[in-house]
Amino acid sequence: MIQLAPSILSADFARLGEAVQMAEEAGADLVHVDIMDGHFVPNLTLGPQVVSSLKKMTSLPLDVHLMVENPGFFIPLFAEAGADWISIHVEASHHLHRDVSLIKELNKKAGLALNPATPIHLMNDIIREVEYVLVMSVNPGFGGQKFVEATHQKIRNLKNWTNGQKLSIAIEVDGGVNLDNMESLLKDGAEILVAGAAIYGEADPPRVIAQMREIIQRYNRP
Ligand code: DX5
Ligand code: ZN
Repeated sequence: MIQLAPSILSADFARLGEAVQMAEEAGADLVHVDIMDGHFVPNLTLGPQVVSSLKKMTSLPLDVHLMVENPGFFIPLFAEAGADWISIHVEASHHLHRDVSLIKELNKKAGLALNPATPIHLMNDIIREVEYVLVMSVNPGFGGQKFVEATHQKIRNLKNWTNGQKLSIAIEVDGGVNLDNMESLLKDGAEILVAGAAIYGEADPPRVIAQMREIIQRYNRP
């Protein structure tokens, strides 16, 4: 099941409620919410209070991507605020097993996120514990960046690995995803597509979501 997750990072921050409602009406599956702390990445976004307000605006699951140092501190705060999925960066956590266990104890979907230069084998001893892996296809911190082409091979390698181990772990791709490259990413094995600037940076975001949905439908057929 392929899922589309618009990233509100590229929406108008003064109108985030409208941005998530538009995504839901246009046919999105998830809302991708980027949390940045100014330490792990050189940018700041939003905190649990905003997530809590957004939760009231949509029935779609909130896919919270924590780009923060010390994720163990923030996991309970965002879980309480209404996050449904929580991913943490393998580069940011000193105690991955503890932090992943915490997400699961709070009954949220647990994901691991990898920067473009981080090899997939670092997840060797933890991958069985998570439900999804978020593969960053740009360096985290900003929307609207250029897709890192090496991500195609990385996703194929990860897909081979999870298939070989018979693991049902979804691959999420995040950064520089657009109408031109999404089909090749689906062929690589990505199942959750995050798109920010390609949706909210366009004049007619609902139309882009509809076009993305059309492509996804072709891959969702049995
Ligand atoms: C980047 C964020 C992404 C970002 C993607 O650090 O994690 O989720 O919103 O935006 P686009 O699709 O514009 O690259
Ligand atoms: Zn993200």
